[in-house]
Order: sequence, then C-alpha cells, then structure tokens
Amino acid sequence: MPKTKAIERNIAIELMRVTEAAAMAAAPYMGRAQKEASDGAAVEAMRATLNSIDMDGIVVIGEGLKDEAPMLYIGEHIGNGNPPMVDIAVDPIEGTRPLARGLPGSIATVALAGRGAMLQVPQEVVYMNKLAVGPIGKGLMDITAAPSRNLNILARVKGVPVEELTVAALDRPRNEALIEEARSTGARIKLLNDGDVAGAMASALPGESDVDIYLGIGGSPEAILAACAIKGLGGDMQAQFWYRDDSEREAARNAGFTEGHVYSIDELVSGDDIFFAATGITGGELLKPVRYFADQVMTHSLIIRSRSGTMRWVEAHHDAGKQRQFALE
Ligand code: FBP
Repeated sequence: MPKTKAIERNIAIELMRVTEAAAMAAAPYMGRAQKEASDGAAVEAMRATLNSIDMDGIVVIGEGLKDEAPMLYIGEHIGNGNPPMVDIAVDPIEGTRPLARGLPGSIATVALAGRGAMLQVPQEVVYMNKLAVGPIGKGLMDITAAPSRNLNILARVKGVPVEELTVAALDRPRNEALIEEARSTGARIKLLNDGDVAGAMASALPGESDVDIYLGIGGSPEAILAACAIKGLGGDMQAQFWYRDDSEREAARNAGFTEGHVYSIDELVSGDDIFFAATGITGGELLKPVRYFADQVMTHSLIIRSRSGTMRWVEAHHDAGKQRQFALE
C-alpha cells in the first residue's frame, strides 16, 4: 500500500470550533427532556462547521445510516474535497440522557484520522467490551483476563496498593459481574451513569482525574472516539465486540469479523495522524459545562493531536450578543 502523506496541520484546532458550536447549540436544551431536538441542533451546528474545514472527509462513525439520519450519516462526504483524505467520527451529543435531564456527563465530540484508519464496526454491533489505561499501563493489560490480574499489575507499576486504584465502569446490569470482581480486589469503583468516552479518557489523564482504569461494556462508536483520544494521550486501550444476541453475532461474522478478537488501540484507529476534540455541554468528569454571562458564553474544550502528543485545554469566551443573534438567524 502506498504510504499516505502525513497531515501537516493541526486539524484538532479546527475541530475545536466544531465541538464548541455543537456544545453551544445543544446547551440551551439542558433539562428540557427533548433528546431529538437537542440532537438535531447539535448535528446541524457540527455539520456546518465541519464542512468549513479544508478536507476530503467521510463520516465513519456517525448518526446512523443515510435513511435513518439526515445529516452526519455514515458514508457522508464532509469538507470541500481538498486533501487530506480523512475518516471522521462524530458524537454531537455524547450523553443525550444527562443533557435531557440536566445532569453532568454530556459532551460534544469529534475525531479525525487518515482515510481507512478507523475500525468500521458493523452497525448491528451496538456494544463493545473495553479496557482503557494511561501510559503507565501501556502494553501490560489483558482484557480477556480477570480484573484482579490487571489491577494487581497496574497497582505494582503505579507503586500503590490496589485499594488506591480507581476503576470506572458504566453502571449497567451487563457490567455487574465485572464490577463485583473489581470490587472484590478492594479497588475503588466509580460508576458512571453515562458518558464512557470521557470515562475511558479519564484513565489516560492522571493529573485531571482519579480514574486509573476504565472497564466494561459500552457503546461501539464511543470505543473508536475514546481510542482516538487515548492514542494521542499515550495511553492504551483494548476492545472486543459484545453481542446482545445471535443476530448481532451473525451480522458481524457475515461481515468478516472474527468472534472474540481483541482489538488493540492500533486496530481501533491506526496511524499517527489522529485528531480529537471535545467540548463540555453539561460538563462532567473532565470538562466544564457551557456557561452564560450577559456579554459572553464560555466553553471548555480539550483537543489532542497524536503525532505531536499535544493536548490543549481551551477556555473560550464567545461574544454573547453575536451568539444570540447567530442562534436567531
Ligand atoms: P449517547 O451518545 O447515545 O448519548 O451515549 C451515551 C452513553 O452513555 C455512552 O457514553 C455509552 O457508551 C452508551 O451510552 C452506553 O449505552 P447504553 O446506555 O445503551 O448502555
């Protein structure tokens, strides 16, 4: 295969405008119990700003297939068609439930990588089993082993007793057995109501969060988004398809995927040209929410570029008058 040209510019900075726009479009819906309307607003804002980026992009992780989603559907072409050729993963509202209920845990997020770099998870496979750690655990974890094995190794390399490690997992019945096993080691447990992109990323941001390892079954699209961020943060991730029933297993098999395969972080997203951006909507584990003042709207974002390993936290002040006028147009 010909070697693709490295992407010279830091598109993550441009992606931040995309997630800021989606977050500001979604934030007014906080607590309004309008999941679809909030998603529509965020998708529209995200698509408009994404399209202003100089690129030849294809949505690989998106809002659904063309007939289910009017915008940002899987396969949709984004950008003006100029190089670079890229894959795009979007989640305009990662955490629609917490936004609808006015709770912390929703962010706007997007990731971009070279064309063909992102694993194309079959649509039918809604969930993946995931394990994520920071740079300290890189290469040492095994998602197929018992949590106690991974936690003991992590405790040893971190130089702390297992009781001082924090395990994050989505609070779902399907994760109960795993959570019980992790509990039995004496480790601290952080149950997440929603938002496992931030939950997984937290494990690779030791200065920002108390999470040491993320474990358990969550959304498949979220696995790719988290992998894009974690790769840039120097952490590690593994994931496996998790089937709710035989029809999902069958669909994956028919699409040529091997049952039980453990996807490494490089299989989830390959190469080094990976860009990630996220902006808090109701905020949460890592990001502050959108905040309103008479003269400004403030957003808080995190952007990551894997080639350089640069991560930036950006607090942006947007002119409130212009934002309000823009929202009315
Ligand atoms: P949305 O982007 O659909 O709002 O997902 C929120 C989320 O909590 C994800 O972070 C997580 O991966 C997924 O839902 C878990 O799915 P489920 O709620 O079906 O267990």
